[in-house]
Amino acid sequence: VQTAIGVAHSKLILIGEHAVVHGQPAISLPFPHVGVESIVDYVPGSVKIDSTFYHGPIDSAPDALNGLTACIRETLDYLEIPCENLLIRIKSSIPPGKGLGSSASVSVAVIRSLFAYAEQGYEMADILRLADISERHAHGEPSGIDTLTITSEMPVWYEKDEPFDMIEPQGDFHFIVADSGRMGDTRLAVESVTNLLKSAPRRIHRKLERLGELTHRARTALETASKHVLGNMLNEAQKELEALGVSDAGLNRLIYIARQEGALGAKLTGGGNGGCVIALAKNEVHSKQLCEKLKKFGAHAVWSFSLGSKQAD
Ligand code: PMV
Repeated sequence: VQTAIGVAHSKLILIGEHAVVHGQPAISLPFPHVGVESIVDYVPGSVKIDSTFYHGPIDSAPDALNGLTACIRETLDYLEIPCENLLIRIKSSIPPGKGLGSSASVSVAVIRSLFAYAEQGYEMADILRLADISERHAHGEPSGIDTLTITSEMPVWYEKDEPFDMIEPQGDFHFIVADSGRMGDTRLAVESVTNLLKSAPRRIHRKLERLGELTHRARTALETASKHVLGNMLNEAQKELEALGVSDAGLNRLIYIARQEGALGAKLTGGGNGGCVIALAKNEVHSKQLCEKLKKFGAHAVWSFSLGSKQAD
């Protein structure tokens, strides 16, 4: 049997995180700069994983991998492959816990590699269903936006339980992403917003609706090449996310520096309370300058990328 390979890129949420869990729309972007490769080989014995995090049989994997191992078992069952004689090597360049969808990327790459090993084609729905098994372990009640964006090549408009939609940005949008260095815990952050919603339903509901409204306006801005409007929407969304308690000092500092250095807008991206910020630069040259500045002021890693007629640089 041949070696089989599956790959997956990562994702970023442009706007709408947290609100999306409660029925509002969100816009997310495929992020090709970091990703996961999964390589499957025939190796006699049990099914084993080889990753930086764990090396050994899936039966004795640590609890943190329960989602992934459940997903592997379900995928093998679906493919009608016996759960034995496989080594799954996972190589990831996605920093975990930074809102870049590392858990969903790992699941999607592993599922794709198992389908390739079985020499079976797949429908998008297969991948989404199987990856959801692992996401539920990782995030409790995931909205599904991570997996969907990881399987997409275009920006995604996502609303829970609605058919998803792709967005075609007009003009060029140059973004930077900066890692605050602190790991976030999406499950905890999602729970904290849900608890806030229970304790002050009307006030928090208004904030979530406001995030939904900003997301609608951000879509229009993307589709009409309105950079300044999009920047404002990102800044406004950050105010709401701060009020929901999911931003922290490290994120706020990077956001402040990005705006001081002329970013048209900046906000946290993903679960928050750690993780990364996303900022909209004026143009390509400015995005490189912003990267330099944020690196100088302590960002652990920075990336620049673009959307629109001129794709990722
Ligand atoms: O996986 P993260 O940290 O990018 O967060 C996902 C976005 C949330 O809206 C916070 C959660 C979800 O499931 O949509």
